[in-house]
Amino acid sequence: KKIGVFFGGRSAEHEVSVITGMQIIENIDKTKYEVVPIYVSKEGKWLTGSSLLDFKNYKDGKFKDTKEIILSPNYEDNNVYAHPEIVGLFGKKIIDKIDIALPAFHGMNGEDGTVQGIFELMDIPYVGCGVLGSSVGMDKVLMKDVYKANNLPIVDYTWFYRSKWLKDKELVINQVEKKLSYPMFVKPANLGSSIGITKAKDRDGLILAIEIAIKYDRKIIIEKAVENLREINCAVMGFDEEVITSLCEEPIGWEEILTFEDKYVKSNEKGGKVSGERRIIPADIDEEIRVEIEELAKKAFITIDGRGVSRIDFLLDQNNKVFINEINTLPGSIAFYLWEGKNYSFTKLIDELINIAIK
Ligand code: DAL
Ligand code: MG
Repeated sequence: KKIGVFFGGRSAEHEVSVITGMQIIENIDKTKYEVVPIYVSKEGKWLTGSSLLDFKNYKDGKFKDTKEIILSPNYEDNNVYAHPEIVGLFGKKIIDKIDIALPAFHGMNGEDGTVQGIFELMDIPYVGCGVLGSSVGMDKVLMKDVYKANNLPIVDYTWFYRSKWLKDKELVINQVEKKLSYPMFVKPANLGSSIGITKAKDRDGLILAIEIAIKYDRKIIIEKAVENLREINCAVMGFDEEVITSLCEEPIGWEEILTFEDKYVKSNEKGGKVSGERRIIPADIDEEIRVEIEELAKKAFITIDGRGVSRIDFLLDQNNKVFINEINTLPGSIAFYLWEGKNYSFTKLIDELINIAIK
């Protein structure tokens, strides 16, 4: 079978996606699958070529020796890229080359249901969540609205559009302060990898944090910060209600929040691999909290129509109260390190995800 591994993309998480894509290509069972690498450059060009099979060919944000065999959307002309004929051609050219798609994008235009929509239209099986799960999982506001409606524990939050901020900052600040007390976390609603996230301790900090977040998104979410928190993550794999949980991890080596640097630059210094040095697996938590987290992780996955593998990130406060922070429907490195202790090697995990995709 030919597996199209898709990575890169126009989101701010481009670099992280390159790591995930390359790790998948390195670990997929080559005796069973033929890999067709498909890389989306930062400019949005859809490229392929055997140079994509080797991380050494990636320098300064680019792969060398790729060819543009897939019609790329023209982002300069707003009217062209969304045309159904173009999308159709797009899909047709991809289908001729692959049997199953394995998207390894993070963030906008890849983890958010858009690419999944192309695979749906083209009737091509693909790994991971469908359109709905991907888009609900991507938008932290909708995600939290859905969890709240299902009585899953989340911290208090509020949100607004960038356009409202640009029109009337004072109104927005008043509304936020009425709803939440400091400290707060300010986040772009549709991004991951800690990009654009700032903790605000007072009004000045809030204004600064919002100005950062609006560079990334037209929608901003603000959450009440949990004091003295611990972060615990747990992954879920499966589809419908047939799901299993991974080990739990506690990411470490950070101060107030896990930064992009902490997550990717530091942990990838050694040879472009998540070294595992910056996390404790399994997390050192009481048995009953572990069970609670696993149950909540499954609910978080099932509630948004999860499929494939997702990583659910939790916050533990000083009284060991558990909150769901978020779900990542296409987690970095597809969270392979959480499955190794559950008898799934990286290779077996990819195999299982492909099996789920064709069920
Ligand atoms: N968004 C990044 C890749 C993650 O959550 O793992
Ligand atoms: Mg995320």
